[in-house]
Amino acid sequence: MQEHQLVDPYKRHLNYLRISITDRCNLRCVYCNPRLSNQKLHHKEVLRYEELLRIARIGVSLGINKIRITGGEPLVRKGCCDFLEHLAAIDGLKDISLTTNGVLLKKHIDRIASAGIKRLNISLDTLNPKKFQQITGHDLFKEVWEGIELAFQKGFDPIKLNVVVINGVNDDELTQLAELSFKYPFHIRFIELMPIGKTSMLDAKPLLVPEIKKRIQLLGNLIPVQKDKNDGPAMRFKFKDAMGEIGFISPVSNHFCKTCNRLRLTADGHILTCLLSDICEDIKAPLRLGLLDKDLKTVFLKAVARKPFQHPENLTPLAQPEQMVSIGG
Ligand code: 5AD
Ligand code: SF4
Repeated sequence: MQEHQLVDPYKRHLNYLRISITDRCNLRCVYCNPRLSNQKLHHKEVLRYEELLRIARIGVSLGINKIRITGGEPLVRKGCCDFLEHLAAIDGLKDISLTTNGVLLKKHIDRIASAGIKRLNISLDTLNPKKFQQITGHDLFKEVWEGIELAFQKGFDPIKLNVVVINGVNDDELTQLAELSFKYPFHIRFIELMPIGKTSMLDAKPLLVPEIKKRIQLLGNLIPVQKDKNDGPAMRFKFKDAMGEIGFISPVSNHFCKTCNRLRLTADGHILTCLLSDICEDIKAPLRLGLLDKDLKTVFLKAVARKPFQHPENLTPLAQPEQMVSIGG
């Protein structure tokens, strides 16, 4: 029986680790702004799969029981599905999920399923192929939608669709996206845009959850769904007679830091204590120096001891430590 040792100074139990396995991505979402190609991490800087697995095992021995794999886009990294299989074999892990932009879902769906992954988060900001291209830089809406439908047919559950709400870009589609929850058992999650990207598309006044919710409620009454102990920061709702759910995530208008249970591992081997702070501990250097598991556990504990109570008050682009692509949202 593992002991839960990852308790931060504010008594939060950190049982959830998000692992970014690559900083590369096959899309260029305006709000995420992946590094230019010359800023990519050198492959030597990126943790190898065996290193990732070792760190994951150490995390689990300290009380991590939930892992999400993110990127960049995780499915662009060669061997991702083998890695998922090895990860799923770690004893003590209750929950493994994958965040993907969906572009490569069709290609990998069977391997993802056979690795034992059930839970998928897929980014889908629009149902309009033209707009998809404007937001992501690529004409791949059809690929992504077919991937989502296939995942549904293959029985993945839950399938969460992440919609980053960009005022003036996809705010006219909020009800249409929410309506998907009638036809499919998907969780449609509306996320406030964090000011990270640098394009003029993002200049409009941000649309925050209270307003987003008001607009979606035009479709009907939103009935609150009982939250799970292991739930993330989404506020969950459902329309009467809907198969799926509606969720709201408000990183800007409402901090959920108080109940944050997360740590992040960046592709280049840093344990990051908060998405929006640069407080982190390098675990790759000690690992590559040959330190023992017990010493690497200390690195986890050091990171946990430094976790800030909340992120900086003002989410300005300048306050951003890194681009989303290297930490995986
Ligand atoms: N604001 C809000 N969410 C973001 N994501 C990426 N960038 C941003 C941002 N600027 C989230 C999206 C995406 C996931 C990978 O990270 O939900 O689907
Ligand atoms: Fe890629 Fe996701 Fe960033 Fe879009 S948000 S560029 S899909 S990492």
